[in-house]
Amino acid sequence: MICLLSIAFAFVTKTSAQDPFSTAKDTNNHSVPFYSPVRAPALPLAVRSPYTSAWVSTVNNGTLNSNGAIFWNGDSLGWEGIITIDGMSYEYFGTGMSGLPLMKEITKAVPHSVSYDSEYTNFSLDAGPIRVTARFFSPVLPKDLCKTSVPLSYFEASFESMDGAPHDVQLYSDVNGRWVTNEGHKPLNWNLYRSSTPVNGAGNSTDSSDTVYNWLVKEQNPFPFGENNDHPQWGNLSYATSPGTAKKFTFQSGHSTEIRYRFVTERSLNNSVDPQFRGQAEAARWDAQLRADIASYYTVNAAMIYSNSTPQPPPPYANASQAVYTNGTDQFGQPYIFDPTTAYGFLTPDGVRGIAVPDVSEANSYYAILALSSRQTMGGYAMAVSPTNSSQPLVFQKEISSNGNINTVDVIFPAMPFFMYANPELFRMVLDPIFEIQEGGFYPNGYSIHDLGSRFPNATGHVEGNDEPMPVEESGNMILMAYAYYKFSGNKEYMVKHYPILKQFAQYLIDFSLIPEHQLSTDDFAGQLTNQTNLAIKGIVALDAISKVAEVLSQADDASRYLDISTKYFEAWTHFAIDPSSNHTLLSYQHRASWGLLYNIYPSLLLNLTVIPQSIFKMQSEWYPKVSQIYGVPLDSRHHYTKSDWQLWAAASSLPSTRRLFVNAIAYWLNHTSTDRAFTDWYETVGTGGYPEGGSTFIARPVAGGHFSLLALWKAGMDKALMGNGTWGWKQSTAA
Ligand SMILES: *[C@@H]1O[C@H](CO)[C@@H](O)[C@H](O)[C@H]1NC(C)=O
Ligand SMILES: *[C@@H]1O[C@H](CO)[C@@H](O)[C@H](O)[C@H]1NC(C)=O
Ligand SMILES: *[C@@H]1O[C@H](CO)[C@@H](O)[C@H](O)[C@H]1NC(C)=O
Ligand SMILES: *[C@@H]1O[C@H](CO)[C@@H](O)[C@H](O)[C@H]1NC(C)=O
Ligand SMILES: *[C@@H]1O[C@H](CO)[C@@H](O)[C@H](O)[C@H]1NC(C)=O
Ligand SMILES: *[C@@H]1O[C@H](CO)[C@@H](O)[C@H](O)[C@H]1NC(C)=O
Ligand SMILES: *[C@@H]1O[C@H](CO)[C@@H](O)[C@H](O)[C@H]1NC(C)=O
Ligand SMILES: *[C@@H]1O[C@H](CO)[C@@H](O)[C@H](O)[C@H]1NC(C)=O
Ligand SMILES: *[C@@H]1O[C@H](CO)[C@@H](O)[C@H](O)[C@H]1NC(C)=O
Ligand SMILES: *[C@@H]1O[C@H](CO)[C@@H](O)[C@H](O)[C@H]1NC(C)=O
Ligand SMILES: *[C@@H]1O[C@H](CO)[C@@H](O)[C@H](O)[C@H]1NC(C)=O
Repeated sequence: MICLLSIAFAFVTKTSAQDPFSTAKDTNNHSVPFYSPVRAPALPLAVRSPYTSAWVSTVNNGTLNSNGAIFWNGDSLGWEGIITIDGMSYEYFGTGMSGLPLMKEITKAVPHSVSYDSEYTNFSLDAGPIRVTARFFSPVLPKDLCKTSVPLSYFEASFESMDGAPHDVQLYSDVNGRWVTNEGHKPLNWNLYRSSTPVNGAGNSTDSSDTVYNWLVKEQNPFPFGENNDHPQWGNLSYATSPGTAKKFTFQSGHSTEIRYRFVTERSLNNSVDPQFRGQAEAARWDAQLRADIASYYTVNAAMIYSNSTPQPPPPYANASQAVYTNGTDQFGQPYIFDPTTAYGFLTPDGVRGIAVPDVSEANSYYAILALSSRQTMGGYAMAVSPTNSSQPLVFQKEISSNGNINTVDVIFPAMPFFMYANPELFRMVLDPIFEIQEGGFYPNGYSIHDLGSRFPNATGHVEGNDEPMPVEESGNMILMAYAYYKFSGNKEYMVKHYPILKQFAQYLIDFSLIPEHQLSTDDFAGQLTNQTNLAIKGIVALDAISKVAEVLSQADDASRYLDISTKYFEAWTHFAIDPSSNHTLLSYQHRASWGLLYNIYPSLLLNLTVIPQSIFKMQSEWYPKVSQIYGVPLDSRHHYTKSDWQLWAAASSLPSTRRLFVNAIAYWLNHTSTDRAFTDWYETVGTGGYPEGGSTFIARPVAGGHFSLLALWKAGMDKALMGNGTWGWKQSTAA
């Protein structure tokens, strides 16, 4: 079942290509592409919204023509690319050719390289004497609301002769109806437009090179706002191109096997359209800016490394039974000999076992993470126009893969650093509908709502108040997010407008945050836990934040009252929450020796709040390396799994040496994990770095926005706030 668009070229280029990469072979003598910057588990092809979300997995050292295009949830999407050279057809994209009869004129292109930046994923493969390059471009335009609202993605195929000889070349590409619906029995309409005129039958020999041909595919009986297994049940697919420099341009719709067979045998299509069948340039700025900002950040924030010029014993290795590295290979798979001038981390006192962090570039690691996170974050959101005020766009987030809720407060919260870095106004548009529902009296509880509806795209709210209850979590989040928006935008009116409901949430925190009895936190997969240290501190930080809101609004009495309560609560919290060893905070008040990532202190730093002192950051920063595993620091002492977003919040709340451990461990995990879909934020820190044992699978979640924690801190001018004077931890004086 296929819609088909073919560009047939008779076009020759001559080059003397230099090959910077030598392709490796696996044990079966199959070529393994060169991956750059790391072998991410899956790469974005077209990722612009919860419904435009096409990826390719790299499982089994795969590339574009070994693992076909998939929707974020793993359902296959038909998307095919064939290049024919002097009569021989090479499949360079997709796996659909396996459906054709065995013919000596058909083979697979040989993988060469796979690279990604924050907007492009590029593949090159060798097709006999030709190198073909397929580039997939999903622009990241957080500052351009108009373009962001149109979920267009670009695919470009180009080729060059490797042997300098002229060749006869045709390019072919098709997509199928799975882009519109995953329900195979549903009738679709396929229409081809030439510019805006429907094409019925033959093509047009008078085309100019930029005439746009556009296939528009939609369900005959769409069901607005419906979903089936996360696929939309309404909307259009548009697949468009121009003839460009092709000498001959043809198209066809029909059954995929027949059309592909026709192409490889006749090397052109029949220009037929069966409407009842089955019954750039703006955006390059994002990547350039991201690279420049990361470079600037690390110019002033590079981690220092342990040095024996000012000797200090390395910290003890906390858990030698979990993972032991001796001379030979370290956790980065690199040759490792303990040398106190180049290594730090946590090692046994004899200095020969433990987890050591070799001197790899943290900046490169951070770019590898953020380049993969940019499209995934933006791809979790869709824009809409308010029915009551068409000049005000609203932005809706899908809680992809975990449960499909719309605008989940505690899923927006972790993504906050992305928006503070990229465009706080976009963040306001995500918050607006959450305020609107609650201030309009459509939510009965005194604390904040959890989400705007249990299934995206229906923002129908919870008028009965029976949403998933996370009262302290969401009330704290709303105050912190509103104040963050103010800090980064300066929009005081917004604070004036929402102060009453923020005060209402603050009252809830006054009543319940210090001793949060049975409450769910955002990490609800770990279950309810009484007296969660990290949840309590969120409430305390949020009370600190609302005192600053009150200050902005010249409400001096409120400001001092909130600050007073926050300060008193913090004092009490230190007695409940800190382990008697004074070495770390507990996971929950009543569990001695437990621990966890205390990521909720990050907003205190980001927003330059005053109640949480540096000593808490320092204590945690010294603790994390002692409990790190090969792929990072576990979320808490109950499990080996962790969350990438919360790790990077904790990293941003740590001193450089510990931050580097987090960043490098996550990049290392990305390069080696056995997970095979879009960046999961929830994974095992041991073993193969797979999905959590016995847990569900988080995929393509927009919480990847939390990975921007370092850049948000930097933008706020708070990146060096923890450095203070003197040295502490085992960070010493030699620059990396
Ligand atoms: C591996 O494949 C190459 C061709 O790609 C061939 O020349 C070589 O002999 C093969 N090596 C083995 C060990 O089979
Ligand atoms: C992937 O390729 C690497 C060599 O780059 C090899 O060590 C590894 O075993 C391969 N993995 C699989 C699953 O083939
Ligand atoms: C991908 O290709 C585009 C277009 O040629 C180029 O601008 C971009 O730098 C490439 N990115 C990578 C990572 O190769
Ligand atoms: C062919 O192109 C010409 C000039 O652009 C246009 O006027 C004509 O309508 C086209 N014919 C068809 C069948 O699309
Ligand atoms: C959205 O709401 C409509 C109307 O109640 C319903 O039929 C549809 O199934 C809902 N969509 C989803 C994805 O649940
Ligand atoms: C689909 O395309 C048709 C025709 O261009 C248009 O009228 C309709 O609004 C589109 N639907 C959506 C959901 O974009
Ligand atoms: C590790 O290597 C160093 C330097 O070669 C050597 O002195 C030391 O004995 C080795 N330790 C072990 C456990 O092999
Ligand atoms: C929660 O902490 C408070 C203060 O330490 C304590 O009184 C209460 O018993 C704790 N709750 C549980 C279930 O341990
Ligand atoms: C706390 O840390 C110090 C130094 O890192 C260590 O010597 C001490 O044993 C730790 N205390 C406990 C109770 O673990
Ligand atoms: C990723 O892994 C490959 C081997 O699989 C290795 O060659 C490369 O250096 C690694 N890259 C990083 C940044 O760790
Ligand atoms: C943080 O707040 C303090 C006052 O508490 C102020 O002196 C300092 O300049 C602020 N830092 C930034 C980066 O805004």
